[in-house]
Amino acid sequence: MASPVSFIIIIFFTTIILHLNFSCCSSSSILVLPLAHSLSNTQFNTTPHHHLLKSTATHSATRFLRHHHQKPQNHRRQISLPLNPGSDYTLSFTLGSQTISLYMDTGSDVVWLPCHPFDCILCEGKFNPSAIPFTAPLNLTSATPVTCKSRACSTAHSSHPSSDLCAAAKCPLDEIETSDCKKFSCPPFYYAYGDGSLIASLYEDNLSLSPSSPAALVLEGFKFGCAHSALAEPIGVAGFGRGALSMPAQLAATSPDIGNHFSYCLVSHSFDTNRVRVPSPLILGRYHNSVGDKKGKQTNPGNDFVYTPMLKNPKHPYFYCVGLEGVSVGKKKIPAPENLRRVDRRGNGGMVVDSGTTFTMLPPGFYDSVVAEFDNRVGSVYKRAGDVEERTALGPCYYIGGEDAKVSYLVPQMLLHFGGNSSVVMPRRNYFYEFLDGGDDGKVKRKVGCMMLMNGGDESESGGGPAGLLGNYQQQGFEVVYDLEKGRVGFARRKCSSLWETLNKN
Ligand SMILES: *[C@@H]1O[C@H](CO)[C@@H](O)[C@H](O)[C@H]1NC(C)=O
Ligand SMILES: *[C@@H]1O[C@H](CO)[C@@H](O)[C@H](O)[C@H]1NC(C)=O
Ligand SMILES: *[C@@H]1O[C@H](CO)[C@@H](O)[C@H](O)[C@H]1NC(C)=O
Repeated sequence: MASPVSFIIIIFFTTIILHLNFSCCSSSSILVLPLAHSLSNTQFNTTPHHHLLKSTATHSATRFLRHHHQKPQNHRRQISLPLNPGSDYTLSFTLGSQTISLYMDTGSDVVWLPCHPFDCILCEGKFNPSAIPFTAPLNLTSATPVTCKSRACSTAHSSHPSSDLCAAAKCPLDEIETSDCKKFSCPPFYYAYGDGSLIASLYEDNLSLSPSSPAALVLEGFKFGCAHSALAEPIGVAGFGRGALSMPAQLAATSPDIGNHFSYCLVSHSFDTNRVRVPSPLILGRYHNSVGDKKGKQTNPGNDFVYTPMLKNPKHPYFYCVGLEGVSVGKKKIPAPENLRRVDRRGNGGMVVDSGTTFTMLPPGFYDSVVAEFDNRVGSVYKRAGDVEERTALGPCYYIGGEDAKVSYLVPQMLLHFGGNSSVVMPRRNYFYEFLDGGDDGKVKRKVGCMMLMNGGDESESGGGPAGLLGNYQQQGFEVVYDLEKGRVGFARRKCSSLWETLNKN
């Protein structure tokens, strides 16, 4: 049997391009890439859950709150990763001749990576090097700097005119006025996430999206930020948000079929390291077949998706923002506040679909109503576990019995009602996490269950931004599709590990 490390490496190289032909449909070309969960090689199961849960919860909150305290003219894009081991997905590809792993993040819009020599401040303990395969900083060999006059440079600098940027790059005035300042590189740019930041310079090089396959997709002149210094950001980020420098936008420039439609299917893990050894498929492009249905039944192409329209957001155009109309707890439907349903003219409100944050955030008043209804049902049967809530920053939590207790039927069903009359039934484990607590200090182990939605913080303190965020924990077991042509996000229940196998068999 392969050791976990070699197994992961094998997976990274089993990337393939599929050409699917069906009698009904024209042939389509898709690219299937493995997303690795950074939990996949950690010892989470042998250490108490509390630390990881608490830091995951805290990081989700930090990232979300930074959206709110953002001043529009100040830092233009502040979105971040929960940067603790065990909460994020990485993607690998080859730049020039070096393979490198980056976080896959639909909540930001720039691709950047650490470059040699790389100085990372406050990065100790931020990731587990054995869990992420290609973390060596990039050696700049074939890459060339992007000039101050290029559109990419203006984009990276919040659309400053190129003349300003060329002046900043110390291009002489006569060259700014008369020529293209080709010799002068784009000045470094600053980019901040919720819990870290970096300074990067723009480069371009050939990027290969599937290192092993002869049919690898190569993007010529791919633009990326190269960072020699970062604060609390040891791993690069592949921004999958909207915006000219994001991964899908650069893909779409050469392969519109692949760049304008992508989906991922996150394997359900419930923080069990064994479950995340199977990669989660990231599917670039549209596939027309009946794979991956939960019960193995034939389904019509794409028909099992529930779609909700993306909302336009003038202030944060890089977000995939949708409207949440309400949440049902059992039979009770709790209507969402106005700011969660729509984005207003100033760009505030709506719910961001984000692969880079772990837990879903709801505005406080609405969160309280959902918790109250949940507690009404579950709390009438089980005792609240206040001490667990304190240690994990999750809640509400309950003692749900001994090791063998079965509680499923007592936990009410939960539905998310999105705009466009799209309701999604959540699998129970996406919102109720059951684990064994205690036992470390000789006490009896007790089974605990916690609700896995989070309070997004005090509205009165917030300076705007999205009202809510759909985290990756709540997206598990769904294929989540981003259809940029039709401006919609779709959800379909899938067994994601089977989908990975099926797509790789074809
Ligand atoms: C990059 O260059 C440095 C210094 O020359 C070297 O130590 C390092 O091994 C190189 N890294 C890779 C991935 O080639
Ligand atoms: C990128 O690929 C093209 C076409 O294969 C090639 O001509 C060019 O030299 C490559 N650029 C770099 C920097 O390797
Ligand atoms: C929404 O869906 C429900 C159930 O399918 C249906 O009864 C209702 O008419 C729909 N409403 C709209 C506005 O489409």
